[in-house]
Amino acid sequence: MGELVRHERRGAVLLVTIDRPKALNALNKQVLDELSEALDAVGDARALVLTGGGEKAFVAGADITAMAEMDTMTAHHFAGYGQAVLDRLEALPIPTIAAVNGFALGGGCELAMACDMVFASRTAVFGQPEVKLGVIPGFGGTQRLVRRVGSQRARELCFTARNVKADEAVQIGLALRVCDDVVADALAVAEQIAQNGPVAVRLCKRAIVDNDGQALGAALTSERQLFALCFSTADQKEGMAAFLGKRKAEFSGK
Ligand code: CAA
Repeated sequence: MGELVRHERRGAVLLVTIDRPKALNALNKQVLDELSEALDAVGDARALVLTGGGEKAFVAGADITAMAEMDTMTAHHFAGYGQAVLDRLEALPIPTIAAVNGFALGGGCELAMACDMVFASRTAVFGQPEVKLGVIPGFGGTQRLVRRVGSQRARELCFTARNVKADEAVQIGLALRVCDDVVADALAVAEQIAQNGPVAVRLCKRAIVDNDGQALGAALTSERQLFALCFSTADQKEGMAAFLGKRKAEFSGK
């Protein structure tokens, strides 16, 4: 278990907390290292919820104190490392939910967007404020924001560096819903996901994530191959037998 990133099992769900509240959970090398380690702990978890420790922040960005000292080469390396960790998060085989419980700025907004779904507390604040610091988003913000909210809106948010509150985040598609208790709501949805056929959920995520950006024809080919693959699983037999037998399915995850 890391010093700045905690992870714990809540039933079938892995809850990961970035816990560096004194710096509003800012992402430095140690936090990225420990986040990466936490992703190694997925094991047989069926969904993951990611949140921030303390009262104020999900993650207030990449660590500005660390970045202030960087030169071109170290900044390139830092962005590459941050992107790689977020890529790993995005590519996890199980569904992921960012439970955004406060500031999700810069690298924090980028981190949330690497999750499958983003739930926002009433106090959540999103934004890409990098240009106020004389830099641009470096952990995928210029790319994932375009994909989440569309090119024109992404340009507006990156160029103005303005903050986006929870309701607007939902309205523009940056977050899925506003929650009174964001971690509890994220855990409840994660638990709902965990009740479904685990292999099917993983293959469903692969069909969506792996085909992002593909031409429709190639993506549909991939989808039907993954659909067919489900028919080699015990879960498909159990799921359909349970439906026909009018009982609840008992999935083995095989
Ligand atoms: N990096 C390092 N430290 C940070 C931080 C960050 N991104 N954000 C906040 N902190 C630290 C503050 O320096 C402060 O530390 P001290 O108590 O030691 O002074 C502590 O966290 C609390 O912060 P504030 O006193 O500023 O809290 P506030 O409530 O007044 O303001 C805030 C909250 C509006 C989020 C403000 O902290 C803020 O603007 N933070 C920076 C946000 C930002 O610019 N993020 C983008 C970073 S660049 C980036 O992420 C690049 C990339 O894409 C990879």
